[in-house]
Amino acid sequence: MSNSPFISNCTADAIRDAALALKAGHLVAFPTETVYGLGADARNPEAIKRIYEVKGRPTDHPLIVHISSLNHLDKWAIDIPEYAIKLARKFWPGPMTLILKRSEIAGDFITGGQDTVGLRVPSDPIAQALITEFEKISNSAIAAPSANRFGQVSSTSGSDVLEELGQYLNDDDRILDGGNSFIGIESTIIDCTRLRPMVLRHGFVTKENIESELEICIPDLVRAPEVKFSGSFEKHYAPKCKIYLGKQEIHGAAFFAMGDIETPNRMERLGAPVTVQEFARTLYSTFRLADQKGFTSLVVDSPKGDGIAIAISERLMKAAQGR
Ligand code: TXA
Ligand code: MG
Repeated sequence: MSNSPFISNCTADAIRDAALALKAGHLVAFPTETVYGLGADARNPEAIKRIYEVKGRPTDHPLIVHISSLNHLDKWAIDIPEYAIKLARKFWPGPMTLILKRSEIAGDFITGGQDTVGLRVPSDPIAQALITEFEKISNSAIAAPSANRFGQVSSTSGSDVLEELGQYLNDDDRILDGGNSFIGIESTIIDCTRLRPMVLRHGFVTKENIESELEICIPDLVRAPEVKFSGSFEKHYAPKCKIYLGKQEIHGAAFFAMGDIETPNRMERLGAPVTVQEFARTLYSTFRLADQKGFTSLVVDSPKGDGIAIAISERLMKAAQGR
């Protein structure tokens, strides 16, 4: 493991120092309320190139640009539809990413050559402070994918980031630790380039939340081949152990389900969340725990219903690959 600075006490000085590191072209991993991000200066092609290297991610896979508030939106996007502004007013700062037509400053190296850009205003106080500070000194913003190796489980704590990416970072990079992510699954991604919004990735801001805010019905996802998002990759969000869905009885396997579901015979219970929110918050750490404990199989019974349950089962379907 490298001796990359792991900063567990995010004072104003530490934030300022991290913003300067970004300005100098280094990488800064930081907490958000969804999952941790691996950040770089969104206008620095060399710095962005390192994100792709550290993640091991193909460069045609676009990054989300993190801004401090709605006020910075029209710097990065053009032709913003009225409904997108409404959503931004309602759900930002928060776990929502809007896909919009890009402005000139959103380069090919962050959009994967597409003419759209993903934008998000996180609510986590450390993320807010870092982005605000960086915007002040740079006239830029922070491009950041989730802080994990490509195809692996997103990081929901600073120590997850260290474990995932520590060996790929160098001494000038930073990991800002902010404890456990409060939401624990990635932001809702909404395509705002069409007449009506379309949810590309489900999350804590649900389809129902969007419909009630806009007072319209929105269509279900049509997998347009030109739109690139996580769903276009078969395996994703996956730990090393095999994930199985439902209540399958696999002797010696680990088991994770809502608290009111009984543990099948001869399996080890790894968690018993009481609410769907708690299920989402602890899902990825449970994946990691199963790996740490050396399990080769983890059976997960996904909570039923609409809303966040859909976001959870979306991740689980990809992790389980039909098992
Ligand atoms: O909660 C989150 O969204 C976290 C935190 C760090 O903000 N970020 C995150 O980033 O999950 P990432 O890169 O792991 O996932 C973002 C997804 C990718 O699958 C990417 O393809 C998609 O968003 N995306 C980004 N820009 C896009 C665009 N212009 N059009 C379509 N999809 C886009
Ligand atoms: Mg990711």
